[in-house]
Amino acid sequence: MTKASVGPRLIRPTWAEIDVNAFRHNLAAVADHLPRRVKIMAVLKADGYGHGASPLAKAASVLGNRLWGFGVSSVEEGVALREAGLKEKILVLGSLFPFDSFDTVLDHHLIPTVASRASASALVQRAQRRGRPAPCHLKIDTGMGRIGMSPEAFASFPKNPWLQVDGIYTHLACADSASVTAHQLKLFNQTIKGFEKRGESPHVGNSGGVLARPASHYSLVRPGLVLYGIVPWPALGRTIDLRPVLSWKTRVVFLKTVPKGTPLSYGWTWRTRRRSRIATLPVGYADGYRRDLSNKGQVLVKGRRCPVVGRVTMDQILVDVSGLTGVEVGEEVVLLGRQGRDQVRAEEMADWAKTISYEILCGISKRVPRVLT
Ligand SMILES: Cc1ncc(COP(=O)(O)O)c(C=O)c1O
Repeated sequence: MTKASVGPRLIRPTWAEIDVNAFRHNLAAVADHLPRRVKIMAVLKADGYGHGASPLAKAASVLGNRLWGFGVSSVEEGVALREAGLKEKILVLGSLFPFDSFDTVLDHHLIPTVASRASASALVQRAQRRGRPAPCHLKIDTGMGRIGMSPEAFASFPKNPWLQVDGIYTHLACADSASVTAHQLKLFNQTIKGFEKRGESPHVGNSGGVLARPASHYSLVRPGLVLYGIVPWPALGRTIDLRPVLSWKTRVVFLKTVPKGTPLSYGWTWRTRRRSRIATLPVGYADGYRRDLSNKGQVLVKGRRCPVVGRVTMDQILVDVSGLTGVEVGEEVVLLGRQGRDQVRAEEMADWAKTISYEILCGISKRVPRVLT
């Protein structure tokens, strides 16, 4: 099963399996879904949404010339991909500050986002010092309200021969709303009129845009979540065949039978309703198994769902395995992913924890080794 592991050595039996072939499959499915002229910037922010960015970046070569390159959150993430040997284009999607970080960006041939006049001037200074124009993408804020020039600020943004503007982009705030997206795209198109003809690629579409908003495609898209096998809202599940890339597993480390009425874990928020067989699993909120899953989460043991009982603690959780026969210490348990005919999906875990699948995936902490399968 195991080809390589990323992160700490696997001794404690709690790990995440990363199915690199599923990632390749998802890339190909996304490419097939789009017109052939559209290239893909694979978004690998937050260390590839918690999966480990560099093995996935390497696998993305499966796209051939449909792969534009990668989008990352920060300079550090871009440098990590360069250090792992990736040669493709890498756009740093975050706003850069302090401005000294532009030096690191240029040293590593990363492409910075220019989101303000001040950042443009800082980049120009460095380009002049190096004697050649600096590549960059400009960011316009059409409604996300995070970073980017307003359309008005962009209208008076001075052209500068030291800035090699290769791209211009905005981000959708509500891809699940056709009307908000139409409004943002209208504003974007008005703002960038004339730019596309000069070779600067506009790009907008995130996963929701890729699957549901063709007007956001242009000739480059920036999907993240779908590449990890998850759709941003349920109805999109019917539009494309995706495979979850990450499974999260552990093993029973302790087992006991307790009488009816036994209180369990911190705060005694759970009491057994009958004589129960309780398994202890070595995973907790320090691994990203969220405390909100206390008395709500479910795990798969022998292909059957078993409830998390009592509070999730920092390093351990308890599950009720009453009714299952043959469960022993060492039994494999699936926290996320498939076992037998059943599957716990990130979307489902996110619902239990009242969050989104993105946060579940990114939240699996560094102490959980990622094992490539
Ligand atoms: C600027 C930008 N582009 C693209 C993406 C990818 O979004 P998604 O994962 O919804 O496809 C993100 C992620 O948040 C982003 O911040």
